[in-house]
Amino acid sequence: MWGNLSKYTPLFLVLAVSGLVLLLCNIHTLEKFNCQTVSALYQLQTKLDSAFRSSGLLQLDRNRTYCGLLGPELTADEAAEERHLLESVAWPEPRTSPAPFRQSSDPSRSFFVILSSGGEWRAGGQLEALVHMHDFLGKPKRHGGDFLLARLLSPELRAGVAGRVVDHQNGFYSLLFWLPWAGPAQVEVVLVHPSEAVQVLRRLREERPDRVFFKSLFRSGYFSETTVCNLCLPPGQPLCNYTDRHTGEPWFCYKPKLLGCDTRINHAKGGYQKDLLTSQEALLFQSDINIKVPIPSSGPDRVTVLPERKEKPESERSVKTETAKFMPSGFYYQGTWQSTGGVPIQQFNDTAAITDCLRGKVVNIYGDSTARQWFEYLNAFVPDLKEFNLRSPKNVGPFLSVDSEHNILLKYRCHGPPIRFSTVAASELRYVSNELEGLAGGRGTVVVVTVWSHFSTFPVEVYVRRLRNIRRAVLRLLDRAPETLVFLRSANLQALDPDVSLYNSDWYSLQLDAVLRAMFRGLPVVLVDAWEMTLAHGLPHNLHPPPTVVKSMIDVFLSHVCPRRRGL
Ligand SMILES: *[C@@H]1O[C@H](CO)[C@@H](O)[C@H](O)[C@H]1NC(C)=O
Ligand SMILES: *[C@@H]1O[C@H](CO)[C@@H](O)[C@H](O)[C@H]1NC(C)=O
Ligand SMILES: *[C@@H]1O[C@H](CO)[C@@H](O)[C@H](O)[C@H]1NC(C)=O
Repeated sequence: MWGNLSKYTPLFLVLAVSGLVLLLCNIHTLEKFNCQTVSALYQLQTKLDSAFRSSGLLQLDRNRTYCGLLGPELTADEAAEERHLLESVAWPEPRTSPAPFRQSSDPSRSFFVILSSGGEWRAGGQLEALVHMHDFLGKPKRHGGDFLLARLLSPELRAGVAGRVVDHQNGFYSLLFWLPWAGPAQVEVVLVHPSEAVQVLRRLREERPDRVFFKSLFRSGYFSETTVCNLCLPPGQPLCNYTDRHTGEPWFCYKPKLLGCDTRINHAKGGYQKDLLTSQEALLFQSDINIKVPIPSSGPDRVTVLPERKEKPESERSVKTETAKFMPSGFYYQGTWQSTGGVPIQQFNDTAAITDCLRGKVVNIYGDSTARQWFEYLNAFVPDLKEFNLRSPKNVGPFLSVDSEHNILLKYRCHGPPIRFSTVAASELRYVSNELEGLAGGRGTVVVVTVWSHFSTFPVEVYVRRLRNIRRAVLRLLDRAPETLVFLRSANLQALDPDVSLYNSDWYSLQLDAVLRAMFRGLPVVLVDAWEMTLAHGLPHNLHPPPTVVKSMIDVFLSHVCPRRRGL
């Protein structure tokens, strides 16, 4: 390439000299991302502020969030689906203006009681509990919107199952548990965030989609510049438009001052904006006070579940509970995950069984670091799988593992932006839907998609658009090659502190996960329920669930890839 350009040498010399002059002038900022980020960020912030002020965007129209303005127009059907999805994840909002901290929900002054059910619980039946929320003054709450999580545990039986929380919007919440086992069972409920904190999280999601920002390095010859990038950048400064041609997925960077948009080398997480909260709001996010704090019971918190009755008496059959029965997707028993329906879950404890199952298969894993955990688990656990060294950056990929004897290929690739990985080469930034378009599919092709965590800082519409593109590509793949197996791994719970909550709260994940489930409901794909697995397990929550939970996911995955034949 440089050979062809030799006739331009004088021009390059001029450019180089002027570049040197500029370099000398800007010696502190060029290539020193920290300084540049701060200034770029300051500009970004000022621009955002003025954009909001000048156009009155602070009064956000739910139909057109800041990011939603970008990207292609929706068809009537897409718009209708999006409206329906947004309504389905609507969260109750207290009518009052922000209450003082002491009137926010206090888990330690709240309590739950197990409802008696005639004093007898049987496996296969249901247990119901009632939570009554109170504030820091000890006064009962009169509105809903608190984010609670509930589960039933039995450490003795190494058993656990997720419960459902029903918000009565008056300070009372019902907890519904399906009872999968006979024996001891203990109710646990935590306040993840008080309703007042959820309000703040919602505001941040709509108004501060820039609170995680990204950067790209541009380089050509001796010049290099770094600019800020995001799904949506306030207008006013020249932009590079990296909107994907096939999917219409938007992506922008500020245009470098000297270099062209086609000199983008890489993409990386820029950082996290701080000072997002007022001092009053910050009180709503305190570890051990109102983030993931258990709610105590008033009275016993455990019951003994009796074995299932063989013949149900007439009276029991006609019993109608006030709230519909809740059926979880699975539960832990003796430390292993069992499904409540569909394909029975096998234990893939030995590597030979896994090799046997994956024989002749190409497994394509796409997504975030929680998808990468599947690659890492299989790659580490199965000795016949040998990782091929692609010289990819650590944790980023793409990764490739091969077992040529059994004809197994295992691949991992991260999803497209927004992705908060360290440094991804621009040439490796691919959207999952485009990758799926490039698969022939068919018997022996297995696809795993996990896309959730990196979308939590954006309005839900952004995630809906991403999933719509992925769903379209999945349906086309299944249409041209119906024997392809497609798996979706759901979101999972994670450890939250005051900081993490603002970017990655489980509340954001809950909303995204509900959208994921709704958009793929009824389609011939398998959902691996990481959410319930992390809720039902006694181990502390972690963005990257511990190996035992990953094993449960792999068990579900392989049980569907290699279902046990009837009669075995
Ligand atoms: C949102 O859009 C729908 C249909 O386009 C419209 O009926 C509704 O009034 C809009 N809502 C707001 C707040 O503008
Ligand atoms: C970015 O490019 C896409 C097409 O590639 C176009 O539809 C969109 O309007 C552009 N956006 C901006 C802000 O220029
Ligand atoms: C597999 O391992 C789990 C936990 O290590 C154990 O509880 C289970 O009984 C094992 N299953 C089989 C079929 O070996």
